[in-house]
Amino acid sequence: MSDFVIAGTAAPEDAANDLLDAAFGPLRRMKTSYRLREGARPVFSFSAHEAATGRLAGVVSLWPLRIGQDGHEALLLGPLAVHPDFHGRGLGGRLMAEALAAARAGGQRLILLVGDGPYYGRFGFQPVPEGQLLMPGPFDPHRLLALELVPGALAGARGLVLPAHRWVGKSSAALEPPGQGEQQKGGGEHGQGGKEPDAGGGDQA
Ligand SMILES: CC(C)(COP(=O)(O)OP(=O)(O)OC[C@H]1O[C@@H](n2cnc3c(N)ncnc32)[C@H](O)[C@@H]1OP(=O)(O)O)[C@@H](O)C(=O)NCCC(=O)NCCS
Repeated sequence: MSDFVIAGTAAPEDAANDLLDAAFGPLRRMKTSYRLREGARPVFSFSAHEAATGRLAGVVSLWPLRIGQDGHEALLLGPLAVHPDFHGRGLGGRLMAEALAAARAGGQRLILLVGDGPYYGRFGFQPVPEGQLLMPGPFDPHRLLALELVPGALAGARGLVLPAHRWVGKSSAALEPPGQGEQQKGGGEHGQGGKEPDAGGGDQA
């Protein structure tokens, strides 16, 4: 029997926060990738528990993004974390395999993350060409990585990366009923009128 049981659901928030603190340290919330998850709901979440004890061992989630004026769709992967007690047993790789399979099955085209190139390179992630994408906060351009699930998906993506619910691009007006485009500027389908959606998944996983 496998050491770990992986479920396609987010871990309970308190347990996930403890795990993320252990994996990344308390300053993790300062990262720009957290800005991309605030107020959003994950599209996919996976949590792994140790089979023998039921203890939370690892988590990963994927979050909806929109890029640039054209609102190019992508997913943000992260955080991927395995509790230090369980490192080196293949769990990070298994969680990545689950996350990437779910994204492919869901018809997704592009995944972004901010992380260590030497680790994520094994899953096919490559550095984004410098200057192609901007983030809503400071980031190390060498750590902004992309995986094209559809060849060429990155080439069409240019500009500011935003959480999908915060994106207000030129095409959002086209999605609104006739005559309402101007009044709803800044509050269209993706703008939410400045109101946060249910933070359900929160920024914990
Ligand atoms: C990165 C992480 C998810 C890996 O989980 P894991 O279950 O130990 O991973 P696996 O057992 O599947 O793979 C282990 C391999 O990854 C390598 N690895 C782990 N962290 C790495 C890193 N930051 N850079 C490069 N390689 C790394 C290990 O050396 C090992 O290599 P090997 O297969 O050649 O022996 C886990 O170490 C973690 O949560 N770390 C803290 C947060 C973090 O660094 N997140 C990702 C990078 S931003």
